[in-house]
Amino acid sequence: MKIIHDITEMQQFCADVRQRGKKIGFVPTMGALHEGHLKLVDEARRCCDLVVVSIFVNPTQFGPQEDFEKYPRNLDADAEKLAPRGADVIFNPSASDMYPKNCVTTIHVVSITEGLCGAHRPGHFDGVAQVVTKLFNIIGPCTAVFGRKDYQQLQVIKRLTTDLNLPVKIVGMPTVREPDGLAMSSRNAYLSPDERPRALAIARALTDAHALFSNSAELATIENHIQKALIHSFDTIDYITLADADSLAPFPADSDYPSRALIAVAARIGGTRLIDNTVLGEDAPPIQR
Ligand code: PAJ
Repeated sequence: MKIIHDITEMQQFCADVRQRGKKIGFVPTMGALHEGHLKLVDEARRCCDLVVVSIFVNPTQFGPQEDFEKYPRNLDADAEKLAPRGADVIFNPSASDMYPKNCVTTIHVVSITEGLCGAHRPGHFDGVAQVVTKLFNIIGPCTAVFGRKDYQQLQVIKRLTTDLNLPVKIVGMPTVREPDGLAMSSRNAYLSPDERPRALAIARALTDAHALFSNSAELATIENHIQKALIHSFDTIDYITLADADSLAPFPADSDYPSRALIAVAARIGGTRLIDNTVLGEDAPPIQR
């Protein structure tokens, strides 16, 4: 497995691979890899000839009060996890190469970035759209694999790719969870031993939501149930949103009962912000009871 830091070298390497008629599969990450990331690598391995994983903690998607500085970074540990999964190349550029001082071009996806995390993290999705577009242009993948754990991010990338005619297929993979149901996240490492069990309230509440939805409970009842279930375990709830799973728009008051609905949650325990989601009527419940 190669590790490439230089942007031009990466671009040339990928151009050569494409010239030889090989399909590049790409998994963008910020490192601190866990099984959720590695399942994306497995999918890229399955469908492509060469697998590139980027490890880059992207400064432009973090707000000024967010955890950019303390975000876990350990390239050696990540490389050890990637090699046995068959990744061919790690792309690990520096922030100064990715964003030279004269870099002023941004990308703003409207509408689907307005609710959920977009409403609580101003500029976050501009940063994601910017870095993912740059990475696509450097690597030129045939397929790029993302997780449904970051459901809004996945929809933003799909929109961006369609709107800008980027020649890459976007694949979304299911959320990988710990055995007890907690969605795997690099940020779980911030949780103290007494915070860790409290974090499970989200997966429990989302599992309850599936049961309520299959009994056609009112959508407001589902939201209220989740609110009550989280209030004791979390210090702050950023949002609990039931929305159309494609447009991410809230359901109009007079709409028919939906056949599928996204329920997405962001909440904080101390300084740790956790997100999770499930699509009612489509996904398996987070906890199998
Ligand atoms: P990061 O948080 O490292 O996540 C990289 C990819 O792994 C994303 O597609 C994310 O949805 C996926 N992922 C994370 N946890 C997962 C889980 N438990 N199950 C399945 N997939 C999971 O998302 C980012 O980095 C960045 O915003 C990035 C796209 C790399 C742009 O900087």
